[in-house]
Amino acid sequence: MSTASLLNMSGIVKKFSGVIALNGVNFNLEKGEVVSLCGENGSGKSTLMKVLTGVHPFGSYEGDIYYKGELLQSRNIGDSEEKGIAIIHQELTLVKELSILENIFLGAEISRHGVLDHSAMYKQTKALLTRVKLDVDPDTPVRTLGVGQQQLVEIAKALSKNAEILVLDEPSAPLTESETEVLLAIVKQLRSEGVSCVYISHKLNEVKEISDRICVIRDGEHIGTQDAKQMTTDDIISMMVGRELKELFPREEHDIGEPILKVGPVTAKISKAANLYQVKDVSFELRKGEILGVAGLVGSGRTELMQCIYGSYNGVYECPIELNGQSIKIRNPEQALSQGIAMVPEDRKRHGIVPIMGVGQNITLAGLSMFAGLGQALDESAENRAIKESIARLKVKTAGQELAIKSLSGGNQQKAILAKFLLLEPGILILDEPTRGIDVGAKYEIYKLMFELVKQGISIIMVSSELPEVLGISDRVLVMHEGKLKGVLENQGLTQEQVMDCALAEE
Ligand SMILES: Nc1ncnc2c1ncn2[C@@H]1O[C@H](COP(=O)(O)OP(=O)(O)OP(=O)(O)O)[C@@H](O)[C@H]1O
Ligand SMILES: [Mg+2]
Repeated sequence: MSTASLLNMSGIVKKFSGVIALNGVNFNLEKGEVVSLCGENGSGKSTLMKVLTGVHPFGSYEGDIYYKGELLQSRNIGDSEEKGIAIIHQELTLVKELSILENIFLGAEISRHGVLDHSAMYKQTKALLTRVKLDVDPDTPVRTLGVGQQQLVEIAKALSKNAEILVLDEPSAPLTESETEVLLAIVKQLRSEGVSCVYISHKLNEVKEISDRICVIRDGEHIGTQDAKQMTTDDIISMMVGRELKELFPREEHDIGEPILKVGPVTAKISKAANLYQVKDVSFELRKGEILGVAGLVGSGRTELMQCIYGSYNGVYECPIELNGQSIKIRNPEQALSQGIAMVPEDRKRHGIVPIMGVGQNITLAGLSMFAGLGQALDESAENRAIKESIARLKVKTAGQELAIKSLSGGNQQKAILAKFLLLEPGILILDEPTRGIDVGAKYEIYKLMFELVKQGISIIMVSSELPEVLGISDRVLVMHEGKLKGVLENQGLTQEQVMDCALAEE
């Protein structure tokens, strides 16, 4: 390893109350280089980058970090940012109630003669948004943006810091394909300007496309760093999981029954006054024991359609539902759950978890009534048993069920949320981007679990932006575009092109 590297991390050890998250990891980065960090959920990627960026301050880890030839001793993120090291965190960190502009300049406001210079900040924000190809007003409140758009704002914010090293921790997880293309183009542009990037993603095609070198860690150990050109996706996977994965989609035969759910026509818009429909006249059926994939581009209305069914849509809508031949009314998620319809939401931080509560508590939160004994007291041993089973069934990697869920790695949080809804034993399970941020090995486990569920007669609706996943496991595919249903395709050897053609076909 050359001592002239821009960044040299060596022998990094990081422990959390007994758990060794990093066990002597080496990592280096040259100027104008993109290095991807790959590893399974919980392998220590985010932790390594938190050590670099001062989230875990100097003194809280062992090993050395040399940056531009000097020992880096960051006390906090601010210290690192000042030195030119910025990070886009895996979980969104924007303040929802503030505008885009306020978020970007938070703590770094521009003022003139002691007064905030709104027009200067507005101009700069506008320019940053143009760079990330987000065409919205800088004064727009962040809470009105979708997760993908919020992520683009995070990227714009990081760009505003003019970093020399930019760490992107799963930046593409909430992005659609076209948004991801914008992101990759930005990273390439930064590289050509001499900025160095650390890129973390479970999407290995992106990793292949963007990296100069690829560094793989497993269980906190440095497995190897190699030239990206010399590595195939299979090489990366086997270094990550320590074995070969023969197939990515463990499709299994299962019986499909009669339609049990009839939805529609669904119509939804943000407000009465809005003239754009997010969902327009969409009707479909879901059959017993089937996996129905929902595909579509950005703004196709997939998530909104699911929210209407689940009673969580925040706007004006109509959504007639027939369950087992009976027409039912669902006005909120509680009513949906009581009818046996559960939904694992897209934005886990906002809707899925209570971050400071324990992993176990989060899992049983929605189903607490199941463990109420006769006198309404909680049957703790039954609850504990259920938690243990859930953690084992989904292979949630946690040092203990008491641990606050926010300290789990991103993918393991996602598994815990799945566990929470499975505990409710729903007849219909809606999964919105179920494998976002999940590593290849864990994805495989989740697909297997989905097949196990449909074999038990549960019906699954899966919204996913990853077409290979939709095609890999769905029985039928619902194709949406701009709020409309463009087609329902039987999946017998369906190709990506066929789905895209269907989405974009003229009416
Ligand atoms: N604040 C914390 N307290 C306790 N344990 C932690 C904390 N942060 C991380 N860990 C543990 O350290 C290990 C590494 O986690 P990390 O978040 O770095 O994984 P990751 O590789 O980023 O995974 P993912 O792909 O799921 O994001 C995990 O076992 C995690 O539970
Ligand atoms: Mg992570």
